[in-house]
Amino acid sequence: MARQPRSLAGKVVVITGAARGIGRSTAELLIGERARVVIADLDGALAASAAAELGATPLELDVTDHVAFTAALDTVERDVGPLDVLINNAGVMPIGPFAESNDDAAYRAFAINVFSLMHGTREAISRMRPRGSGHIVNIASMAGVVPTPGAAVYASSKHAVVGFCESLWWELRGTGIELSYVLPTLVNTELAAGMERTRATRVVEPADVAAEVVAALKRPRLAVYVPRSMGTVTKVGNLIPRAVGNKIMTASGSDHVILDSLGSEGRTAYEKRVAESAPAADAERARR
Ligand SMILES: NC(=O)c1ccc[n+]([C@@H]2O[C@H](COP(=O)([O-])OP(=O)(O)OC[C@H]3O[C@@H](n4cnc5c(N)ncnc54)[C@H](O)[C@@H]3O)[C@@H](O)[C@H]2O)c1
Repeated sequence: MARQPRSLAGKVVVITGAARGIGRSTAELLIGERARVVIADLDGALAASAAAELGATPLELDVTDHVAFTAALDTVERDVGPLDVLINNAGVMPIGPFAESNDDAAYRAFAINVFSLMHGTREAISRMRPRGSGHIVNIASMAGVVPTPGAAVYASSKHAVVGFCESLWWELRGTGIELSYVLPTLVNTELAAGMERTRATRVVEPADVAAEVVAALKRPRLAVYVPRSMGTVTKVGNLIPRAVGNKIMTASGSDHVILDSLGSEGRTAYEKRVAESAPAADAERARR
């Protein structure tokens, strides 16, 4: 008989980067499941308004400030309760021809998308292991398993997340701690602004990703594709000859969909927001 889905009622869930987009939708759905949700975000004002609207606890947090990240989890455990679920969702997507990019953008993307996610994961493990329970959800991307021309740095950061989780899963066996990584296709958020769907790319809504995250928390599994059909597409894609895959990429326009978004209104606004965000990781790199 299939196991009963786990109840999320009363669970303490911290979601990073949850003031908008996928994180916010996930917070909303989890609150509907009666979880106690902490909306953590670099944008403290937006985190506060989202939390007030949804009935969550707000937390201003720059995940690249690892000392602050640890202290924030301490505060949550003191004020809300022991951490049951950490969703490492905060992320940025730099795009453009790689040859025209610079090291600063790559360091920033890895600081947010990879190193902070690793820090959060380690912190969560140290808190969950003594209790023998907990669930860590790391938001990766389909860009972590397929080529993503125009976003080579972003894709490599998401490949890092996939490799990290595939390896860590083995280390967590027997600890009672569940691990999932999530691979959404293009999602209709500010991060993907200006990117059009192609014949090979589906676009989903943040609520679709949230629904799969909640499903994975109820019935734990490691790799969570959104939509689920992308799991099959990925498996088949790995079997077909490279020349055939290349033809599909070019015929569908997937080889230029990201670069085509450069200069669009939405993309320009996103890039301005990210450029102005100045995470702690930037200052730390400048000091070295
Ligand atoms: N939108 C997509 O097409 C898509 C597809 C696959 C995966 N993803 C991944 O989903 C996650 C969420 O993306 P989204 O589309 O909701 O993006 P978004 O830009 O809408 O939201 C990201 C949030 O993260 C916050 N953030 C950024 N840097 C931070 C930092 N240093 N500390 C704390 N918070 C920070 C931002 O303030 C923002 O509120 C990311 O990891 C992204 O890579 C997105």
